[in-house]
Amino acid sequence: MESAAVSLEAVEKRFGSTVALSSLTLEASAGEFLVLLGPSGCGKSTALRIIAGLEQPTSGTVRISGKVVNEVEPKDRDVAMVFQSYALYPHLSVRKNIEFPLRSRRMPAEERELRVKEAARSLQLEELLERKPGQLSGGQRQRVALARAIVRQPKAFLMDEPLSNLDARLRVEMRAELVELHRRSRTTVLYVTHDQVEAMTMGDRVAILRGGVLQQVGTPKQVHARPANLFVASFIGSPPMNLFPGALLDDPGVTLGVRPEHFSIGDGGPLRAVVTLVESLGHEHHVACRIGGADGSLVIVRLPAAVSPPEIGQQVSLGVTDRVFRFDSESGQLLEAT
Ligand SMILES: Nc1ncnc2c1ncn2[C@@H]1O[C@H](COP(=O)(O)OP(=O)(O)O)[C@@H](O)[C@H]1O
Ligand SMILES: [Mg+2]
Repeated sequence: MESAAVSLEAVEKRFGSTVALSSLTLEASAGEFLVLLGPSGCGKSTALRIIAGLEQPTSGTVRISGKVVNEVEPKDRDVAMVFQSYALYPHLSVRKNIEFPLRSRRMPAEERELRVKEAARSLQLEELLERKPGQLSGGQRQRVALARAIVRQPKAFLMDEPLSNLDARLRVEMRAELVELHRRSRTTVLYVTHDQVEAMTMGDRVAILRGGVLQQVGTPKQVHARPANLFVASFIGSPPMNLFPGALLDDPGVTLGVRPEHFSIGDGGPLRAVVTLVESLGHEHHVACRIGGADGSLVIVRLPAAVSPPEIGQQVSLGVTDRVFRFDSESGQLLEAT
C-alpha cells in the first residue's frame, strides 16, 4: 500500500473572530503515526478537517505527498477520515457497509470482494459480515467503521478521537489493534485525541496544541523528558508534574517542577511533609503529601507497588531522586532540566 507524507505549512484558520489555528506548521512523514494532542477546543479537529478538505484554511498550504492540495476536492485527496461518531448505514449488512465506498467508486465486483475480505480479516469481522449494525456491540461497530476506511486503501488515515465512545477496556484493546494495523500497513496516520495516555502509547511522535498554537512536537520520550513549557509539562504524565511557583522559592522568576515518580519518601530527604491521602492502584501508589504546614502546597508522589506506602497523617521526609525542571514563570518556557 502506498503511503503519503502529509503537511501543513503556516496554516491559519479563523471562524469570525475565533482563531482556531494560528500559523500551524506540522508534517507527518510517509508511514508515520503522528498524534495531535490537546484539550477540547484547541483546534485538533479543524486541523484534520483542513487536511481532508472539509474545511478551507484562511491562509497557508496543505500538502499530500509533496503536492499542494488546497484546491483539490476532498474525494480526490486519497485520505480516509474516521470520526468519533461512526455513522453506519443501519439497513445495510456489515459487508455492504464496508463495501460502500468502493461501490460509489464503481470498482469491479471481484476486486470489491477481495478488498472487503481483506479488511474484514484484519479487523476480525469475518464472522459478522451478514449482520446489521444494530446487532453489533459498540466496539464491533467501530471496527466496521475502520474497515470501511481501510478498504479504500488510502494514502493516509485521519482519525478524530475514534475510540472516545468506547468503554475503557475496549479502548485499550482497540488502541493495540490500531497500532498493530499501522505496523502491518505502514500507512500514514494522523490521530487526534485529548487523552495523553492514548497519545503517548500510540504515537511515533506527538504534537501538542493549545489554543490553536503548536507547543511541541517530539517522540513520547522526548516530550516527557524535556517538555518545552509548563503547559506541556503539566499535560503529559500521570499524575501530572508537581509545580512549585516562584513565590515559594528564593527565585520568584522561576517555577520548579518535579514528576511524581521522582520523589522518594522516608530516606531522610530534606522536605518535611504530612501524608494527606494514599491511593493504591495495584500496580502503584499515589501519595498526596502537604509540605510547609497546613496551607502549604500539595505534592503527589508516585511509588512502585512493591514499596509499602505511608499512612494518612504520618510525618514523612521527601527527597528528590531525579531531574528537577526549571521554567520561566512568566513565559512558561523550559529553562533547564537537571
Ligand atoms: N464551524 C465552526 N464555526 C465556528 N467556530 C468553530 C467551528 N469549528 C470549530 N470552531 C471553533 O474553533 C476552535 C477549535 O475547534 P476544534 O478544532 O473543533 O477543536 P478540538 O477538535 O481540538 O476540540 C474552537 O474554539 C471551536 O469553537
Ligand atoms: Mg475535536
